Amino acid sequence: MKELVYLSGFGNEFATEAVAGTLPVGRNSPQRVAHGLYAEQLSGTAFTAPRHANRRSWLYRIRPAALHQPFKMLQSGKFHNDFDVVPASPNQLRWDPLPLPQVPTDFVDGLVAMAGNGSAAAQSGCGIHVYAANRSMSGRYFYDADGELLIVPQLGRLRIVSELGAIEVEPQEIAVIPRGVRFRVELLEAQARGYVAENFGALLRLPELGPIGSNGLANSRDFLTPVAAYEDVEGDFELVAKFQGRLWSARIDHSPLDVVGWHGNYAPYKYDLRRFNAIGSISYDHPDPSIFTVLTSASDTPGVANMDFAIFPPRWLVAENTFRPPWFHRNIASEFMGLVHGAYDAKAGGFVPGGASLHNCMSGHGPDAASFDKASNADTTRPDHIVDTMAFMFETRAVIHPTKQALESPQLQRDYHECWQGLKKNFNARNI
Ligand SMILES: [Fe+2]
Repeated sequence: MKELVYLSGFGNEFATEAVAGTLPVGRNSPQRVAHGLYAEQLSGTAFTAPRHANRRSWLYRIRPAALHQPFKMLQSGKFHNDFDVVPASPNQLRWDPLPLPQVPTDFVDGLVAMAGNGSAAAQSGCGIHVYAANRSMSGRYFYDADGELLIVPQLGRLRIVSELGAIEVEPQEIAVIPRGVRFRVELLEAQARGYVAENFGALLRLPELGPIGSNGLANSRDFLTPVAAYEDVEGDFELVAKFQGRLWSARIDHSPLDVVGWHGNYAPYKYDLRRFNAIGSISYDHPDPSIFTVLTSASDTPGVANMDFAIFPPRWLVAENTFRPPWFHRNIASEFMGLVHGAYDAKAGGFVPGGASLHNCMSGHGPDAASFDKASNADTTRPDHIVDTMAFMFETRAVIHPTKQALESPQLQRDYHECWQGLKKNFNARNI
């Protein structure tokens, strides 16, 4: 399989064509497009969004996206946005990894809604899903009209073949598929598992850097967008749409991944989390976890995100006379965490790669008893090198409601609260 080619930079205007002479010059929609193609605009923001936030691409394709049979609603499976079926509780929650499927299961069939907030209809909030699959999508294509998909593989490499080109991702990398973009997922290994945030709100973008300056955190040039590639194939295929929380299926007699050339700034991209430039304290304490934000979706309130995607990568901890792991805390924000690789420094066990935890608005959490004792007695004149880890967090302004299937799943750790029960009372007014 030939190596993929990528274009570098976050949200840039790109122009790419798989056949020379495809892209029109000087206009987007000429009377006739070269090579007998159709011109089609794909807009990911309002036409009138401010220029810095405006995202759209022009696609030059073999057939327009309109060409398919009518959609019929599929029986509801496990991939949905039913976040209000059971009440959200203030309990800390944690799950073991989803088991890998025993029957043939592709990426779309393998998606399971774990939690979420807001709705596609309100264009705010996000769905949080996990996937486990053991076969490639074959003769089957998918798009999500409800939100952009932030895919976080934990096991197995994926080849995501989209209208705008193909991306390969492996654990410790992420891919973002914009709302509406059609794609299929091939497994490059026997099994695949990971996490997906389905962002109903404003498009993910790089956070502002403020006093950090012009470099740091995730650097723009490390975001990679595919070059144009197309399929010119016909057959009896299925197009699955996610629309208003439900899956819909239509027959289509050709591959919808038939874009021969495109230009614009609305396209899939990938990013290697190992390239994140982690920034932290070199004196004492540590900054709020917002310092680890990779991508953020703005809300209507300045400084308050609809959702943030933050990571906890390998790093040095050097702060002196400081409790170095994440401290005990309660937030107005709600936090869904996953672990892609290794171990997480605030927990001695129970939070394993592929697992997940949820700490909602104002629910107390932090290190378990073992991690607290270890960090309280550590020699902070010496640096700690945290290696072999890659944890992440989907953090949202609104409470994250677990789904009924997540709360009823055998993977829910019903004894999670026990990890804090060993925290002893150490108070003695006569001691310093
Ligand atoms: Fe937290």
